[in-house]
Amino acid sequence: MKRKLLVWVWLVFLGILNAQVHKDSPNKNISSDSPINKRVATLLKRMTLDEKIGQMTQFAFYGSTATGAVVDSNTIIHIRRGEVGSLLNADNFEVIRNLQKEAVNNSRLGIPILFGMDVIHGFRTIFPIPLAQSASWDLALIEKCESIAAMESSASGINWTFAPMVDISRDPRWGRVLEGAGEDPYLGSEIAKARVKGFQGDKIGSANSVLACIKHFAAYGTVEAGREYNTTDMSLQNLFNFYLPPYKAAVDANAATLMTAFNELNGVPCSASKYLLTDILRNRWNFKGMVVTDYTAIPEMLYHGNVKNEEEAAIASLNAGVDMDMQGSVFLKNLKQAYLGKKVTLKNIEEAASRILKLKIMIGLFDNPYRFLNEENLRNNTERPEFDATALEMARKSIVLLKNNQNILPLSLEKKYTIAMIGPYSADKTGLNGEWSLSANKTHDVSPYWAITKKIEGNSVKIIRSLGCTINGTDTAGYADARRIAQQADIVLLMMGENENMSGEAHSRTSITIPDVQRNLMKVLKRIGKPMVLILTNGRPLDLSWEDANLDAILETWFLGRKSGDAMADILFGDYNPSGKLTMTFPRTIGQVPIYYNHKNTGRPYSLATSTERYHSVYIDVPNTPLYPFGYGLSYTNYKITDVRLNKKILNQREVLKVTAKVTNSGKIDGENTVQLYIQDLVNIPTRPVKELKAFGKFLIRKGETIKVEFSIPVTEFSFYDDKTNLIPPIGEFKLWVANSSDDNSKEVNFAVVK
Ligand code: NOJ
Repeated sequence: MKRKLLVWVWLVFLGILNAQVHKDSPNKNISSDSPINKRVATLLKRMTLDEKIGQMTQFAFYGSTATGAVVDSNTIIHIRRGEVGSLLNADNFEVIRNLQKEAVNNSRLGIPILFGMDVIHGFRTIFPIPLAQSASWDLALIEKCESIAAMESSASGINWTFAPMVDISRDPRWGRVLEGAGEDPYLGSEIAKARVKGFQGDKIGSANSVLACIKHFAAYGTVEAGREYNTTDMSLQNLFNFYLPPYKAAVDANAATLMTAFNELNGVPCSASKYLLTDILRNRWNFKGMVVTDYTAIPEMLYHGNVKNEEEAAIASLNAGVDMDMQGSVFLKNLKQAYLGKKVTLKNIEEAASRILKLKIMIGLFDNPYRFLNEENLRNNTERPEFDATALEMARKSIVLLKNNQNILPLSLEKKYTIAMIGPYSADKTGLNGEWSLSANKTHDVSPYWAITKKIEGNSVKIIRSLGCTINGTDTAGYADARRIAQQADIVLLMMGENENMSGEAHSRTSITIPDVQRNLMKVLKRIGKPMVLILTNGRPLDLSWEDANLDAILETWFLGRKSGDAMADILFGDYNPSGKLTMTFPRTIGQVPIYYNHKNTGRPYSLATSTERYHSVYIDVPNTPLYPFGYGLSYTNYKITDVRLNKKILNQREVLKVTAKVTNSGKIDGENTVQLYIQDLVNIPTRPVKELKAFGKFLIRKGETIKVEFSIPVTEFSFYDDKTNLIPPIGEFKLWVANSSDDNSKEVNFAVVK
């Protein structure tokens, strides 16, 4: 009886809300002809303080995957009260439509909701993880993958992705390196721009686009000891020269939103950093978009220790420049009281709410709240056959050939031989998608076994397989079967690596080797003496010293997404010539971490150390050099760089440096090569790195062909920041290399810059 009464009261309550809605719906009252700012101002006048704060609130919709605590699950009630500006993690058309209907029909002002989602490397069609994509160095293809991700996700009702992650990282212990573009600020910036363009199209609100979100601001990629959510502390010259450029590039590319980082930077949690969010982002970079926190980052300040209670946390965030509170409920619960206590201003609240409303207007939600919920789009723009073709192209281009002793690869279909596939990934299919494939349709995934079997069909090659062991654990019961299979084979393909839960958020590792149970199996198989090729699946640079010393070939295949198997088969049998190059350094051992190519020289450089003179900046047990450097990747052919020329040997600061070189494909197979241009600024304060990437290009070169490549770089690109964050124009002597990798010093030339 009591329950019935409650339901009745609830229905009457809903009826009252509905009645108000029809009276007040903003969609009728805000003319779409008036300029956006006027529309926002009109709307703000009609909103209560609670509704303004409501716009600044984002919840993970009930039942969704959380990447932290689920703070509040009363989504519908909040929507009806006008307390939800945005929801995250709803990825289903019907669910989103129902939630949007709640907002439009059942809240007082009917303000539509922004639907955010982590669309990190594809939506239904999964592409390689971003770190893998960066190894393609193919900006146009990266942009294309993101535009497909935008098309698929926007067709499902999503209008905002939490990507690109542009955090520079030099530490493979940090599990999230898989989401970024590696260690270099220049390459990272170029990729950041391509990804923003891919998501957003030509302008905010374009058809089939989603809003991009630059994350995580700032320096999240350099959390101490590679431990997730940890602290960062660095000089301003380090921050400005190496970590900020990709965020800035994404701002300049007109990214609509930005997410704060979980970490504190130089003593201040990023969501409370006025220095980052206002002084740099808004005042210096002129960012006009909206700032959202990371998941529960505002209440987490109580643990950081910069505030005493949630009200102080809300005040600190708003005053620093945060517009939207992701899943913290702290704005919702505290801002009104803070305003009444005169601790925050109405102006600040209204500015934040305005930025959110403005985006909603810009993407057309006020004109049609269901713009992203069009059934025809859902049917036509999801999993089109050409999306698979792009997924395959990107997967092939992401693979990096790390070792190929005596050209054991590619394998031939002409010969009669038996291949043994051994290792946990010999049977896997969906695990190859990698972390952040939350919305994937995995039913079309192609396993390596299936793809290789298809490839050898009708030929004399035979394939046998054995699991051998699982990814982790201690069970060696499968070793015997793996040995038996290897003994019958002419060549062993080791299908090994990390699983998808060993990298990504909250998955830092202190050991970056292939787990022991797999490495020990490799050691057992090594004794049989058959040629062994490792096909490595992983989300971060690993210590592959043993593998490099003991195996015949190594293919770095990361997590390649839906087309993993096909891409591996194409590379193995030479239907695609590997062209990927590393964007993060692979250490010889974890003890070298952090290790990166653009380091400083020191006063006792490694290059001057000899076997008898050891008082240099060296280790006594391993060389300083990495196992595989930034920019490195082999191919089935050879590329020779010759004839490097500069337009001028002495340039002034307003000129453009033009560099040409010849590149010859001296092998017997066509291929694509990424040619890299590095410089060293020899004398300056602050001192500059031993090398810095300043340009690159990926070129198709036919077998036997020589092409001429040309790079144009304005001299201003060699500027850098001092510790007061002043931009210092370049001056003095420089070295320059046109190279196949960051450790390729063969083609060195000099130039100088004068005023
Ligand atoms: C926490 C992660 O740090 C962030 O990157 C992600 O976008 C949010 N969770 C939402 O899932």
